[in-house]
Amino acid sequence: MKRKPPWNEAVRLAALERYGILDMPSDAVLNSIVQAAANLCETPIALISLVDSSYLWLKPCVGMPEIKAPRDYSFCNNAIQEPEKLLEVEDASKDERFKNNYLVTGEPNIRFYAGKPLVTPDGIALGTLCVIDYKPRRLSTTQRDGLDQLSNAVMELFHERLESRITAIDHIVEQAIQDGVMITDANQPGNPITYVNQAFELLTGYSKAEVLGKNPRFLQGPDTDPDKRSQLCNAIAEHKSCTVTLKNYRKDGVGFWNQLTVSPVMDSSGKLISFVGIQRNADDRLLAEDRSLRLSKTRQQREQARASRNRLAQIVEDSTNEIYVLDADSFQIMNANRSARNNLGYSFDESQQLMPWDYVEGLTQENMNGLIAPLRAGVLDTQVFETVHRRKDGSTYPVSTHLQYMAAQDPPVYTAIVQDITERQRQEESVRLRERAIEALDVGVTILDATKENNPLVYVNQTLCRMTGYSADELIGQGAGIFQRNNRQQIPHLEVKAAQAKGESVQVLFNSVRKNGSRFMNELSLSPVHNAKGKLTHYIGINRDVTEKLETEERSQRSRKIEAVGQLAGGIAHDFNNLLRSLPEIWNS
Ligand SMILES: Cc1cc2nc3c(=O)[nH]c(=O)nc-3n(C[C@H](O)[C@H](O)[C@H](O)COP(=O)(O)O)c2cc1C
Repeated sequence: MKRKPPWNEAVRLAALERYGILDMPSDAVLNSIVQAAANLCETPIALISLVDSSYLWLKPCVGMPEIKAPRDYSFCNNAIQEPEKLLEVEDASKDERFKNNYLVTGEPNIRFYAGKPLVTPDGIALGTLCVIDYKPRRLSTTQRDGLDQLSNAVMELFHERLESRITAIDHIVEQAIQDGVMITDANQPGNPITYVNQAFELLTGYSKAEVLGKNPRFLQGPDTDPDKRSQLCNAIAEHKSCTVTLKNYRKDGVGFWNQLTVSPVMDSSGKLISFVGIQRNADDRLLAEDRSLRLSKTRQQREQARASRNRLAQIVEDSTNEIYVLDADSFQIMNANRSARNNLGYSFDESQQLMPWDYVEGLTQENMNGLIAPLRAGVLDTQVFETVHRRKDGSTYPVSTHLQYMAAQDPPVYTAIVQDITERQRQEESVRLRERAIEALDVGVTILDATKENNPLVYVNQTLCRMTGYSADELIGQGAGIFQRNNRQQIPHLEVKAAQAKGESVQVLFNSVRKNGSRFMNELSLSPVHNAKGKLTHYIGINRDVTEKLETEERSQRSRKIEAVGQLAGGIAHDFNNLLRSLPEIWNS
């Protein structure tokens, strides 16, 4: 006959699991009960059969070995379908339910079976206490009652076992588990706490009495992450397990990281009955994680620092300036970059042997001490000076040096940043020469700043000073209008303004005033100067005092006029004379 599991099969299997009897070791009391059953019922076989999902576990047995047999076709499987009843099969070979069972048709040729279900207090049949015979027969009432009582005794024993098992589990949960354990009643409003273990009390500082009946959220506080909280809320609402690490607070207000796992507990019908929460103090783990994070950050920072040091070293090496690092005690060169080595003509190894006076013209240890004294005293940050470097081949070149003392370095060092100023000196010399040439010109030269309002003078040469009677100091910063006092409406002034507006050159004649008030005629050529980007920056004015020239011109013009008048007058006189001379002839004719 095919097995047909009872309607509460899942509950039954869970109970079997809970009782923990399938793999229980041999037990003397159980053995005697089974023996008593065989004696009572006068059967060759007596046994306890526990009905698993697929097997019968034949526990203490009289007349056959303890075995695990397939559940299908078993008598016991039938017996447990009606937990309250004794199943008695007088002759299996004539019983429709069993006559074709291979245990009946073949070895051990069972004929008689009586099984009393082993039933838990809540009515769940775990298996049977049964007696079996090879010949058909019937139990007497005494035997039936006896079998009933013996099955109760078996259940008593199972129960004791369960109790001690529960006590052991409780003990483990209470004593041995280091994590907090909490159970809440999912079927009561607010999901209140019904149990917490000792570890929970230790972890949170709350006693059992203080927390029973409350919802566990009382452990939360200001820094509890709302996202983690809603994660929990959603999982609980959906009856799912969830693990989060969130900030909780002990009774004394001190925060701790709670690595919390909340799991639903269902009954066999799938109905939610409670939640179990496991609370683990994650401070240590987080601390360790934090420490390892910090370590890896420090490592990363160290690598970054090393990379940036290397980069800096490369920049120093590649700099077009000569850069020297000198030991602060001995002045010996510790490092000379590529420009320094190339300019001086020393190899890397040779450069490491150098002392500053080997390549600085005229430098001695004594005047080196003089140079560094204000740096060491902290009076100066940087000593800037110009000197001359001598190459390995004896040739020299001018340099500008910035010398600094780096006391914080280990060991302390001096750094010298040196610029070859050969080109700069050449340019300065050429500018000086040009300035001298401009000074020597016999025309007045002015330079005006075109970017400022009023175009102030930024340069005047000596000739202009002589021409106007002002010193350079008096003129620099003044507008060029200083030479046209009270004369701003002169037509040439307007011409200049118009040309300036167009950025064009202009040549005008001004009636100008010297410092002493005397007047002179100033012939001015004004030219715009543009910078490399084409922006007008300056005007250059060439001023000529043309007073004398004009007067001379005027004088000679006047005398030419007089001469012309004279000639005219002479001509007229001549003509008049001629006329006079001819008058007598006219009169005489
Ligand atoms: C069994 C169980 C244990 C819980 N343990 C904690 C806990 O230790 N700490 C905590 O902050 N929340 C814990 N909770 C979560 C809160 O009780 C609550 O469900 C969560 O704050 C989300 O709901 P709420 O948004 O209504 O507060 C637990 C919940 C259950 C069901």
